[in-house]
Amino acid sequence: MANEVIAIASDHGGYDYKEILKSELKKMGFEVNDLGCHDESSVDYPDYAHALAGALKSGDIKRGVLVCGSGIGISIAANRHAHIRAALVHDALTARLCREHNDANVLVLGGRTTGIEVAKDCLNVFLNTGFEGGRHQNRINKMS
Ligand code: RB5
Repeated sequence: MANEVIAIASDHGGYDYKEILKSELKKMGFEVNDLGCHDESSVDYPDYAHALAGALKSGDIKRGVLVCGSGIGISIAANRHAHIRAALVHDALTARLCREHNDANVLVLGGRTTGIEVAKDCLNVFLNTGFEGGRHQNRINKMS
């Protein structure tokens, strides 16, 4: 069976983190669909949030990672899409809770606000934590 594909995208404020997290994903055995940006030139974060939402639309790719400077703008833009539950996290606890309680399908990190080792930890927790369902499923249903 083919390895799971994880989509990843960033603006210039998250470019360096995207490159590092991409390597981490490959080390973990995932395939990576890199939707840009491809260098540190200034770009608009909504373009990359929308590209990642597009990549998750068909359901073939189920999980994604977004990074901008703070993580705020790119998560706001991603959450405009009904099929996206993008969670801006800052540590392993919020990475765990966004999976257990919110069934987040997109991890969002701030490249200028979160240390890289913490960001790698968040990635690992996000990818390895399941959704608890139950009462949390009812709440997810109310968002759809
Ligand atoms: C870009 O300078 C910066 O505004 C962006 O990366 C992000 O922090 C927006 O929320």
